[in-house]
Amino acid sequence: MTDITAIHAKYARLIDTSDSLSRLDDIRVSALGRKGEISMMMRGLGEMTLDEKKVMGPALNGLKNDIAALIETRKTALENEALNKALASETLDMSLPVNIGMGTLHPVQQVMEEITVIFSDTGFSVVEGPDIEDDFHNFTALNFPPDHPARDMHDTFFMVPDETESGKDVKRQTGKHTSEQKVLRTHTSPVQIRTMINRKPPIRIIAPGRTYRCDSDQTHTPMFHQVEGLAIDGDIHMGHLKGCLINFVSAFFENDVDVRFRPHHFPFTEPSAEMDVRYERVGSEIRIGQGDKWMEILGCGMVHPDVLRACNLNPDEHQGFAFGMGVDRLAMLKYGIPDLRDMFAADTRWLAHYGFSPLLQANLATGLS
Ligand code: DAH
Repeated sequence: MTDITAIHAKYARLIDTSDSLSRLDDIRVSALGRKGEISMMMRGLGEMTLDEKKVMGPALNGLKNDIAALIETRKTALENEALNKALASETLDMSLPVNIGMGTLHPVQQVMEEITVIFSDTGFSVVEGPDIEDDFHNFTALNFPPDHPARDMHDTFFMVPDETESGKDVKRQTGKHTSEQKVLRTHTSPVQIRTMINRKPPIRIIAPGRTYRCDSDQTHTPMFHQVEGLAIDGDIHMGHLKGCLINFVSAFFENDVDVRFRPHHFPFTEPSAEMDVRYERVGSEIRIGQGDKWMEILGCGMVHPDVLRACNLNPDEHQGFAFGMGVDRLAMLKYGIPDLRDMFAADTRWLAHYGFSPLLQANLATGLS
């Protein structure tokens, strides 16, 4: 019996003076664990006489329950102590300045807005078309003949045919595609078609948006951005096209920019041209406007009569010009961004560096900048 009283006192003292949850757990193991002192004593009951058991059984049970209760009480106290300590050290300083980490506008978004502001100043409105297009709008109506290599040159992403569609496996094996298959639009030119079919001339629109080609290297990403332009009326000629684009580049680069138009071929325009801007390299910097080198920045031309006809317009009554430019390239040139692929890597450090404040509007064309 004295043994039990002494053991009780020993553990009561240890529990009372334990100063951490881990120390308390050590004590629990040494008393009540499988090989703990009290557990071993209880195991000894089996070898006692009946009379001894009658006395020692309840006494040991009482000891075990008492110690378990003491441990539980101490545990709660230690947990409360830890919580209070944490609360005391984690005070919130309400007087600190707010830092909500405002996001930035991606340079592509910024440049699209700049382009929109410039063209809306000269009477163009903005329209949009779907990213998933059909063969008619992306190719056929734009005068790409069936099976013409120009369709391959676009490195088109074809949508996987419906699983239930018969002949699917044949298409996959041969790599042949059907005109029913939808595509990710390879350019913004299909928006021209949608606009001419749905609106009556006079038409003056630009169509900014995402475009896709199965191409990836230092200067190409599978997703990129273009802005399409279209003007249709009764007496539009190449002079209007040139004037419109010369005005655009000077406003965009905020500088007098020397340009040249080079003959080119696109199925949907005739005549077709590419526009180059003069530039020079100073160290690693590219300066647009003057210099002895030329850089191509867009394609353009007079809308092909076949395209007008595909949109139910009579080429004898209406004609016009169209152009298409790569927005990502323009953003890189204007804001000195060296690598195209970084543009879409979603790195917040890059965005913090090259991004624009959403509170500053693109207002260069209005002369307010
Ligand atoms: N769609 C052409 C491309 O992605 C760009 C283009 C060229 C658009 C001439 C036009 C145009 O509207 O007239 O390469």
